Amino acid sequence: MKPASRILCKALQEKIMTAEQAALLISSGDNVGMSGFTGSGYPKALPLALAKRIEDANSAGQKFRIGVWTGASTAPELDGALAKVDGVEMRLPYQSDPVCRQRINAGEMEYLDIHLSHVAQFVWFGFLGKLDIAVVEVAGILEDGRLIPSSSVGNNKTWLDQAGKVILEVNSWQDSRLEGMHDIYYGTNLPPHRQPIPLVRPQDRIGDSYLCCDPDKIIAVIETHSPDRNTGFSAPDENSRLIAGHILEFFQHEVKRGRLPKELLPLQSGVGNIANAVMAGLNKGPFENLTAYTEVLQDGMLEMIQSGKLVSASATAFSLSDGALAELYAHFDEYKEKIVLRPQEISNHPEVIRRLGVIAMNGMIEADLYGNVNSTHVMGSSIMNGIGGSGDFARNAYISIFMTPSQAKDGQISCIVPMVSHVDHTEHDVQVLVTEQGLADLRGLSPTQRAKVIIENCAHPDFKPALQDYQKRSRDHSFGKHTPHLLDEALSWHQRYLTNGHM
Ligand code: COA
Repeated sequence: MKPASRILCKALQEKIMTAEQAALLISSGDNVGMSGFTGSGYPKALPLALAKRIEDANSAGQKFRIGVWTGASTAPELDGALAKVDGVEMRLPYQSDPVCRQRINAGEMEYLDIHLSHVAQFVWFGFLGKLDIAVVEVAGILEDGRLIPSSSVGNNKTWLDQAGKVILEVNSWQDSRLEGMHDIYYGTNLPPHRQPIPLVRPQDRIGDSYLCCDPDKIIAVIETHSPDRNTGFSAPDENSRLIAGHILEFFQHEVKRGRLPKELLPLQSGVGNIANAVMAGLNKGPFENLTAYTEVLQDGMLEMIQSGKLVSASATAFSLSDGALAELYAHFDEYKEKIVLRPQEISNHPEVIRRLGVIAMNGMIEADLYGNVNSTHVMGSSIMNGIGGSGDFARNAYISIFMTPSQAKDGQISCIVPMVSHVDHTEHDVQVLVTEQGLADLRGLSPTQRAKVIIENCAHPDFKPALQDYQKRSRDHSFGKHTPHLLDEALSWHQRYLTNGHM
């Protein structure tokens, strides 16, 4: 049976059309602001229809490319489909799609990797050029035209405000009980008129439950009934369990020293399996009454809400496996009291992160002996995903933690290297490094002191001798002794991976 229409506004009912018809309203060269954040709340129908249109244009020998701006990563129906037909001129700000990645690394697609908290204000400031059109998924439209946000908020408020034209996808697959879960803050002004954001606890509500949009700008409304693309998580492996264990021990130590309260401080947990495993570790750990001020709500955090360990969580999107999603909707009212979804300029806002004293925990590709972290590039030139919100949180956190297994690619490459091949987080923004081998607390240490602790505590035994040898020789022969380096050798460390033929 066809679900009842979620479009209650009469004026907008008249704008209902098919995705194929709406795709004709987008022109080559347009910058398109699409909803979507880590596989949730992205438009499901229009990007596929647009990809078909682009494919037809390509077959007729015409080039048709658009700029794709989103909240963060989306799904194969958006990033994958548009990348496959070579329809993306410029992509920002974060992606994790294999086809997209391949195009970017082949030099066929421009990619602007920026802090997620910067995107909205860069658009308000006009730094990114004109936003021509917004394509935003919502869970429903009220009689007065207000929009019920979907399973992610991301940059939707900004897209709806800033775009000249708007296309809405109303997805009846999204649970109607999402209404009331969001907190859309409309109080941000441009400098020099900015006021403090009145958010002092993760669970505070400072805005409205709805998104607003000038109805005259809405040129099409598409009805869909399609699931989010939720990715599953692998069960925590031995390395993830060890990393989680080191972090728990560190927290206990900090509580004992009086540097963290016994309920800790609001937790931020990055994307991926390790971050998820750390949450699983915390769920079994001794801490109670925890809170989260984070970007995505993954399975691990949902389990912590379920067990009562986590009393409230603020994020901009869900990123749940099918099992976790079923659990969420089975006990939705209980979760709804404890979860707030916000625009990403607020979930990732430096002012709020600093005020709340967030504990940031993010994954990385590699770290160097001095604590610089690479979260995005392989061999310094090939993008993996993007910086996402890791920089927003790391730089402003109370404690900034980065974690990774000590080795990658079946032990062929060390994730602790003399000099990172690309820097996302400088030594000034990284306080703690963790691998399955152990934890390096870098606070208060000079570069050479840091190098010693990082090799000792975090490097894999197979790579320790080479790193110690580098450390000694660089101390003896470096031009400067403050941050000793043998530049030729530091930079050629990554050759090892390349010559093993795994690129
Ligand atoms: N050299 C080469 N490749 C490496 C590597 C290294 N030092 N370290 C990891 N990799 C590869 C892995 O082999 C894996 O490749 P595969 O997909 O081909 O198997 C891939 O990077 C992902 O690594 P994985 O060990 O599965 O870790 P992850 O899922 O925890 O992801 C990041 C790690 C860094 C890619 C991920 O955390 C990320 O994208 N971070 C940036 C964004 C971010 O932090 N967002 C959170 C803010 S809220």
